Amino acid sequence: MSFYDRRLLSELIGCACRTRALTRQRARLIPLASGRVLELGIGAGANLRFYDAARVTAVCGVDPSAELRAKAAEAPRPEGLDVRLEGGRAEALPYPDAGFDTVVTTFTLCSVPDSAAALQEARRVLKPSGRLLFCEHGLAPDRRLARWQRRLEPAWAAMAGGCRLTRDIAAELAPAGFRPGPLERRYLRKVPKLVGWTTTGEAWPA
Ligand SMILES: C[S@@+](CC[C@H](N)C(=O)[O-])C[C@H]1O[C@@H](n2cnc3c(N)ncnc32)[C@H](O)[C@@H]1O
Repeated sequence: MSFYDRRLLSELIGCACRTRALTRQRARLIPLASGRVLELGIGAGANLRFYDAARVTAVCGVDPSAELRAKAAEAPRPEGLDVRLEGGRAEALPYPDAGFDTVVTTFTLCSVPDSAAALQEARRVLKPSGRLLFCEHGLAPDRRLARWQRRLEPAWAAMAGGCRLTRDIAAELAPAGFRPGPLERRYLRKVPKLVGWTTTGEAWPA
């Protein structure tokens, strides 16, 4: 792995994930988590400070990047929040079936090589009564912009840790065995449109 991938990229991802527009989304979504929680691609732990320690028994965060997990270990969080970090990939989660009340994925599925497998794994580790909370960027509804996203995706992915511009979580939920609730889909303000179209919501095992 190059110096860029190992050190610079983790700095860039850490910064990008702390922008105000993303922080606003986190502040609305993450307090809904309850019970035993799994975060896919926890990164630098930008969600940790938004968990409600009174509703959450533990947050398990899985991420392949040791550099980002080290940042997550230092990230601010409410007092008493039990956080456990683990190396691993969302496509092959190191957890048994039906052990989590909530699975969280924020700005992660774009970077996971096989997002369909990651969602199937999320479904597997969720309890039947559990729920998936998500906020992901992806394929824009405007045809012209979508064309640019497709064109630029290879170069973008090479620079941005494998981040794809054209993922569509809304289309991937049902095939992975989820029943989505109402989705909030919009461009985030003050975020470049190329990466600004986000889908936020909840889904339950079907
Ligand atoms: C843009 S960052 C988002 C981090 C975090 N979810 C957040 O909201 O700040 C994308 C994350 O996905 C992680 N990632 C990449 N490939 C992955 C995989 N196969 N499984 C799980 N996480 C992965 C990266 O290491 C990185 O932490």
